[in-house]
Amino acid sequence: MINKGIILAGGMGTRMSPLTKAVNKQLLPLYDKPLIYYPLSILMLAGIKDILIIVNQGQLYQFRKLLPEKNNLGLKIQYKEQKFPGGLPEAFLIGEKFIGKENIALILGDNFFYGQSLTKILKKNIKLKSGAKIFLHPVKNPHLYGVATIDKRNKVTKLVEKPRKSRSNLAVTGLYFFDNDAIRFSKTLRKSKRKELEIIDLLNKYKKKNKLKAELIGRGGTWLDTGNIQDFYTASNYIAAIENRQGLKIACLEEISLKNKWIVKDNIIKAIKFYGNCEYSKYLKSII
Ligand code: TTP
Repeated sequence: MINKGIILAGGMGTRMSPLTKAVNKQLLPLYDKPLIYYPLSILMLAGIKDILIIVNQGQLYQFRKLLPEKNNLGLKIQYKEQKFPGGLPEAFLIGEKFIGKENIALILGDNFFYGQSLTKILKKNIKLKSGAKIFLHPVKNPHLYGVATIDKRNKVTKLVEKPRKSRSNLAVTGLYFFDNDAIRFSKTLRKSKRKELEIIDLLNKYKKKNKLKAELIGRGGTWLDTGNIQDFYTASNYIAAIENRQGLKIACLEEISLKNKWIVKDNIIKAIKFYGNCEYSKYLKSII
């Protein structure tokens, strides 16, 4: 079972410069809310409320204004700073104390997931006892991603970072479930040519031990990149199209908490005061 989650919300955001020169990418608006709301909502939909957010050095103040440790979401939020973006597995070194002896979910702060059966998939996989689980999604340009090949039982048989040619079109998304070995394994990793610890290397440790499985987020689900300007606006427009059609919000954190019974109506009223007079508050009013 997984009860704890880490959101990796540091990084340089180089591809989004100059937008990211003064503001962390995860605080930029993806349509009507800060980007970090979306990965956070995924952990919450999975049922995780004990959360560590890793941010860049010097950025705690801004994040705390938005998502304080004492919040109206029924979440236990903690923060840690990453001195320098040294790669995704650093999450398990920085988060070692937070993780303790438990299993852990990791989500990248700039990943957007959406789709009908998503919550079901999350709830099923959160039961992970041992090994690691990655989530795969078909993409048109596999050469831009970590790509996995799987067998009939969804066991990962091959894992390649940005392959020039690949038979598989299944990209490794930025959501990972690990058992506690992730800490031990991450400590043995060496930095790659680009001077980062690589998540693919960590996953390969699990694969070697026959302990790496995959879950497919098929065409009924959506996984979008928000790493460059074009993708960021494509994702924004996607969210706008759905929200304005349905009148429902994607990644309204308070709504998810209320449904999870982590908070009560009174917390929503407090949240409305916190946000002030805005569209998001109007939506919160509509759900109570
Ligand atoms: P990347 O896309 O590798 O990096 P980035 O977001 O800083 O963007 P760019 O390549 O344009 O410089 O990171 C993916 C996500 O993981 C992103 O949300 C930032 C986060 N991250 C960290 O928090 N720490 C790290 O050490 C790395 C490598 C990424």
